Amino acid sequence: EKVVLAYSGGVDTSVCIPYLKEEWGVKEVITLAADLGQGEELGPIKEKALTSGALVSLVADAQVSFMNNYAFPAIQANALYENRYPLSTALARPLIAKLLVDAAEEYGADAVAHGCTGKGNDQVRFDVSIAALNPNIKVLAPAREWGMSREETIAYGERFGIPAPVKKSSPYSIDRNLLGRSIEAGPLEDPWTEPLEEVFAMTRAIADTPDEPDYVEIGFAKGIPVSLDGNAFSPVALVSQLNERVGAHGIGRIDMIENRLVGIKSREIYEAPALLVLIQAHRDLESLTLTADVTQYKRGIEETYSQLVYNGLWYSPLKGALDAFVQQTQERVSGTVRVKLFKGNATIVGRKADNSLYTPDLATYGADDQFDHKAAEGFIYVWGLPTRVWAEKLRG
Ligand code: ARG
Ligand code: SIN
Repeated sequence: EKVVLAYSGGVDTSVCIPYLKEEWGVKEVITLAADLGQGEELGPIKEKALTSGALVSLVADAQVSFMNNYAFPAIQANALYENRYPLSTALARPLIAKLLVDAAEEYGADAVAHGCTGKGNDQVRFDVSIAALNPNIKVLAPAREWGMSREETIAYGERFGIPAPVKKSSPYSIDRNLLGRSIEAGPLEDPWTEPLEEVFAMTRAIADTPDEPDYVEIGFAKGIPVSLDGNAFSPVALVSQLNERVGAHGIGRIDMIENRLVGIKSREIYEAPALLVLIQAHRDLESLTLTADVTQYKRGIEETYSQLVYNGLWYSPLKGALDAFVQQTQERVSGTVRVKLFKGNATIVGRKADNSLYTPDLATYGADDQFDHKAAEGFIYVWGLPTRVWAEKLRG
């Protein structure tokens, strides 16, 4: 048997290599590490996979695809799970699933594997996405079945030459990519405990932020961010620049109790500086360029879309249908949004668009007012008619 394993370089996924071979009789393990902008050197990770017993160690540079095919559609959908979490981890999973399936097909593997535990969302996202992409490929999840504690996992790894983590390992579970960081566990498991400053890496503490605001002008073309302050940027460069600028002002932190698909409530800390500001700015530009009914109807679509992505249904037919709706709405969402970054707050302070539906002659309270006030009277009579009839009946 030949297996492609999703590989991060951590102890758990490293231990998966000998475990698959020794306990499950897998002959060849091919590891696949995806560069999603986690800011880690992938060279050493490649080496590590080989010393841990992998036959082939693949590294996929997937940042551009991550932005274009996963992050940007989510921004167009203003996707926020439970109104807060911008899905920075969730969006990476269907992409990694695709890379696994592509590699399995290329190398003629019978199965793919991942190191997710049995109580999280990530296992669902991997398993369902892989099945959607190629239902003939088996999915192995050793960490879901081995029942080893952290200590036992480390001890097992040492038997096969996998070194224990050098530094006293952090009590947190952290997932990171270009879109953000997700931090769980350790002291954070008490929902009353304030996160220590040490958990954050992309956002500054307010005490350390500049005393002058930064203004950034974000340009969108058909709902996709394309420029900062009038300068065109590639997708990856735009998001990393914006992460820096937004994070420097202490913006982009979330602390929430979240409902996982598997029924558990968990306490989650997120940092997603650029992504949160991009969604905020995008939504604002929509308010200028979409009609009221489309804007309001889209809210419901966005809610469903966010749940589907969170719940691992990226490649489902409903998600595909919602994508078509969202794409259609973005045709005229082009323009610029001006955002003020200051002391933990991103505030939209201006927006403009060639396609703007904002009509000064209609909106003004000044002398140039073109709105027909007389017409309002008849409109209100008809609009209020059902309520009037109802009220008259009530009075008898
Ligand atoms: N709860 C978040 C989500 O479901 C973050 C998961 C973080 N994953 C991890 N392996 N630490 O998307
Ligand atoms: C895990 O348990 O594997 C990570 C957390 C999650 O998937 O939600």
